[in-house]
Amino acid sequence: MAKVYITRPIADEALASIRGAAQVALWPNPDLPPPREVILEQVRGVDGVLCLLTDTIDAQVIDAGPSLRVISNLAVGYDNIDVAAATARGILVCNTPGVLTETTADLAWSLIMAAARRIPEAERYLRAGSWKSWSPQLMLGQDVHGATLGVVGLGRIGQAVARRASGFGMRILYADLAPKPEAEALGASFAELPQLLRESDIVSIHTPLTDRTHHLIGAKELALMKPSAVLINTARGAIVDGKALADALRGGCIFAAGLDVLESEPPEPDDPLLHLDNCVVLPHIGSASVATRTRMATMAAENVLAALEGRRPPHLVNPEAFSP
Ligand code: DGY
Repeated sequence: MAKVYITRPIADEALASIRGAAQVALWPNPDLPPPREVILEQVRGVDGVLCLLTDTIDAQVIDAGPSLRVISNLAVGYDNIDVAAATARGILVCNTPGVLTETTADLAWSLIMAAARRIPEAERYLRAGSWKSWSPQLMLGQDVHGATLGVVGLGRIGQAVARRASGFGMRILYADLAPKPEAEALGASFAELPQLLRESDIVSIHTPLTDRTHHLIGAKELALMKPSAVLINTARGAIVDGKALADALRGGCIFAAGLDVLESEPPEPDDPLLHLDNCVVLPHIGSASVATRTRMATMAAENVLAALEGRRPPHLVNPEAFSP
């Protein structure tokens, strides 16, 4: 019987489907990832690994599993996996695209509203007993309706965020490697990144983390943005230079930020972004709805099962590694 290592408890039905076809070793702690030495040990002798974005699956881990046939990530992003190393060894790498698009776009919009209208800050103020009277100058934020939304990366999630903007009567700009045909239906206009940063009131990041996008938004880019602008990141923390962002928020170079992702997750307690009132920070919950996380787990399980049966997994990142 095939063997699979699963690095965190996942939805019951997904777990049961893998258990029906393989012997499963499961890391039992729902809140913490297995330490690296545990992954290195467990990967020895298994045919498949179902892992999370918190697990670094690099060449050393891959080499520790000589019988490994599939690495199935429970995430759409797979920057935690050395895909080239896996491909070189004929190991299939899979992800969970599509099912989390709308849920993540909903969260991006939650951050847009929260950061632009200072909602967490206002709630902290009230709960602290600081509110004495309705006041014409109290907690003034930025309007979202009628503003210009700049989408960085018009992939599935970027498009879903842009689609929601029509209800707010927004002008939409997008930056990507090249103009995209889907943009027309969204009423979105292509812009180079500097133009998008200069003209947008809200900039929302939806690009994968790669060598090219690491620190795509740094001090130079933040300096191009309007002092009234809001930056949203629901993609990967390292796309934004966190230190430069903290400086920009502190110095009034931009108005606010809404972050679901950080360079270091969880952040150090002294991370300046945690101590700025104009920064809304969430613990990477973009896809965290009951239905979506269940679908992601089911999809990750389907990918594992297909690979173990010699079928092409439905969501294969490196098709060149598959031979029927
Ligand atoms: C992903 O899937 O890449 C998200 O970051 C977590 O859902």
